Amino acid sequence: MTTGKAQGNHAQVPEAIEQVLLSQETIAARVRELATQISADYADAHSVVLIGVLKGAFIFLADLARHLTVPHHVDFIALSSYNRGAVREGEVRLIMDTRASVADRHVLVVEDIVDTGHTLDYLLRTFRARPAASVRAAVLLSKPDRRRVEVPIDYLGFKIPDVWVVGYGLDYADRFRTLPFIGALKREVYE
Ligand code: IMP
Ligand code: MG
Repeated sequence: MTTGKAQGNHAQVPEAIEQVLLSQETIAARVRELATQISADYADAHSVVLIGVLKGAFIFLADLARHLTVPHHVDFIALSSYNRGAVREGEVRLIMDTRASVADRHVLVVEDIVDTGHTLDYLLRTFRARPAASVRAAVLLSKPDRRRVEVPIDYLGFKIPDVWVVGYGLDYADRFRTLPFIGALKREVYE
């Protein structure tokens, strides 16, 4: 493991990272803002369930949930892993469903990033087909330039350019997930 220059909060930046796009502090501040907005919007909701999409959303969900002031449950789902090229365009498979039923609950899908939009589109259609009280999405990152399917994002952290990003839950081939910041991977690493 190579270590690079020290960044804010003294986090080491691996050699494979081209640039830090969002620092730990920037992310934390935005996640708090989203939690405030969500808490206000769901103030009268009696049964909120945050549904994290494994694995990428686990850190975002953990931070977001701990800033919410409305009562809520946490659940997870897992989808077929995304593989540029290896998976047919738009193909999404459910690998693990939620533990609890979403009936009469306000579903907030928590996702790390929306790229083409196929995954979130699949998720929203899946939960809308169930007897949930409502279905919305909280997404940390969006790459609008890559969109193939228009999807509504009710709570969005940041718009980013078309680069492969890692850290704060996001990976490349299951690496870099626990970096505290979000960084753009060097193109030679993923191309
Ligand atoms: P979409 O279906 O094309 O919108 O892809 C969404 C999924 O692809 C996300 O949930 C991520 O798992 C993955 N993904 C897309 N872009 C990135 C990235 O830059 N870094 C890490 N994962 C990504
Ligand atoms: Mg994901």
